[in-house]
Amino acid sequence: MNAEESVELEQLMFVEEPMRGDGPRVHPAWLPPEAFRSLGARRILLHGEGLLVDTVLDEVSRACARYGGRMWHSPSWDVDVDLVLALRDAAELPNPSVEAARAAGEAALAELGDGGSLGDEGFVLARAGDVTAVLADAPAGLLYGLFHVVRLCAAAFDPARPPERHRPALRRRMLNHWDNVAVHPVMGQVERGYAGGSIFWRDGRPRGDLARVREYGRLLASCGVNAISVNNVNVARTEALLLTERLGDVAEIADALRPYGIRVHLAVSFAAPVVLGGLPTADPRDETVRAWWAATTRRVYDRIPDFGGYLVKADSEGQPGPFTYGRDHADGANLLAEALAPHGGVVHWRAFVYNHQQDWRDRSTDRARAAYDHFVPLDGRFRTNVVVQVKFGPVDFQTREPVSPVLAAMPATRLAVELQVTQEYTGQQRHVCHLGPWWSEVLRFAPWGPGGRTIADVVTGEAAAGGGLVAVANVGDDVFWTGHPLAQANLYTFGRLAWDPRRDPTAILDEWITLTFPPSATADAELVRRTLHEIMDDSWRTYERYTAPLGVGFMVNPGDHYGPNVDGYEYTRWGTYHFADRDGVGVDRSRASGTGFAGQYPPYWAQVYESPESCPDELLLFFHHVPYGHVLRSGSTVIQHIYDTHFAGVEEVTAMRRRWQALTGMIDPSVYERVAERLDEQVRCATEWRDQINTYFFRASGVPDERGRDIH
Ligand code: GCU
Repeated sequence: MNAEESVELEQLMFVEEPMRGDGPRVHPAWLPPEAFRSLGARRILLHGEGLLVDTVLDEVSRACARYGGRMWHSPSWDVDVDLVLALRDAAELPNPSVEAARAAGEAALAELGDGGSLGDEGFVLARAGDVTAVLADAPAGLLYGLFHVVRLCAAAFDPARPPERHRPALRRRMLNHWDNVAVHPVMGQVERGYAGGSIFWRDGRPRGDLARVREYGRLLASCGVNAISVNNVNVARTEALLLTERLGDVAEIADALRPYGIRVHLAVSFAAPVVLGGLPTADPRDETVRAWWAATTRRVYDRIPDFGGYLVKADSEGQPGPFTYGRDHADGANLLAEALAPHGGVVHWRAFVYNHQQDWRDRSTDRARAAYDHFVPLDGRFRTNVVVQVKFGPVDFQTREPVSPVLAAMPATRLAVELQVTQEYTGQQRHVCHLGPWWSEVLRFAPWGPGGRTIADVVTGEAAAGGGLVAVANVGDDVFWTGHPLAQANLYTFGRLAWDPRRDPTAILDEWITLTFPPSATADAELVRRTLHEIMDDSWRTYERYTAPLGVGFMVNPGDHYGPNVDGYEYTRWGTYHFADRDGVGVDRSRASGTGFAGQYPPYWAQVYESPESCPDELLLFFHHVPYGHVLRSGSTVIQHIYDTHFAGVEEVTAMRRRWQALTGMIDPSVYERVAERLDEQVRCATEWRDQINTYFFRASGVPDERGRDIH
């Protein structure tokens, strides 16, 4: 770069931040400009080339333009800098202090051993003298390194900071959008979406706001997500077309997300060869079907060379699948895997397969058993580019469930855990329910017994070849992205846990608070931080207290799944029962007298869950049918526990609402108002839950509350 060009670049750096898109401005979530203050006030040198390096360049130049720092790209002249972001293959860096920083990074890597490799996405951060160096092997590593510096704020420039290396534990960190292209008559534009319309689709067409899609990619990259699927797993006619004639719409999204290192995947219909290809069959063993998938997939890669792969819900809740042809799920998944393999793509094949036409009178069928019964016998038969995607619990994203036993029973299969960031069963983004602690509990669960390998280990796999972490997304075209502004924290936390599933969720929440409500822009940063922790840290347990006692789930209104309805699903075909009567409540899933589900776990937990005496209280009614007077490990009876937790839940929500008032005038008024509104609804709804559940069980059992509180 010559002197003239450098002046030009400098001028460019100081132009006002460009507006992104023409639509109304949306809330910046955890990336407000203020979060870039520390970075943007510094002198920064960027070295490297490539699409993602350009993204880093764009981020850094905008931050510098705003906060008075300076930035240079390409190292061919002598400058003093505070931060260097460089690809490790750089031949020469501009001056001795920058070289020293690079040497410090390299030395740190050598010390860490392991051949010093950072992989496609890792980076090292090291200090030397007055310079911070971020080094990466590949452009994505620089991008993640940049966001790490943003998170650290001034701490990234602390002379005493020891070197650190970061690599994602999981290779694929993915969100599934349950977005419909055409509005579904019952499910709407986004199935189980609580944040307005889709950011991708509207009324049968692309929504057309690619600036917003790009902004979304930026948010995702900054927390570590690197893959998304862009349409609902329930694939209807219009959505099926995304694979063929409407592939261009998918390619546009892929183009918008590529600069942030995010690959696009597509949910496809197993019946596509029939529906789209006009073939008489979709039988996975049929040669014409295999040829159809191969040719179709080739065309996808011609258009989107870094396409991620397919996501399939088959033989589940009415979706077509291999059972139609007398084939199994390995046959089905391998068919698509074979088509994707030459291009490096993967199939995410969901294990959410069960009989949704059950009869509540039939006690021998247990939905909780289904995924295991269908999939475990197939272990070892899936191709290496198949990821079997398993919901974290055996039933369906409930507030409390045991961890799915499938995750401990398929050692020869790549397994991914599926979480639900969208709060279908956890308050629908009208209630504060911070899910980090719940997910962390799932990821830390040791299915072979305490001290053994964990779910995090399973999804990481040997040499990071596991299936990774996947979640159903929670954003929409709402101005706050997630409806409830505090639900943004769930999205952020998912990304950070997918990057490192062993991290403490409270520390992640703290990070989110600092970014979203930057201390430098807040009158009383400590008050804001403390209040948010008080409201959010335990909010999942609070939600559990007023909705789901002792592992009972599904006491929700059928259809929309919001609000209490104790018997709403009790006599339906969906297989989600609690079997409450005048004597007791719960589902007997023991081997001795029940459905045998407890026996699907490795011996340690099979034994613990088998008996009501050893079963943890929080799962008691998931595994056992017990009398109301049954004494819990906590010392309370089942019925008294139900009363106590429901009263406590409402008190806690009332306290949340009161605490929130402390932030009046402290934060963005539009955020304040939206949260306040939703807390009012949460108090109303929690009260309804308390009264319906307590009244139901009081009437069923006839046992009064030992503390004499009002039960209607
Ligand atoms: C839940 C949800 C459905 C969804 C299904 C799935 O049952 O209510 O809307 O389609 O999960 O995970 O496929």
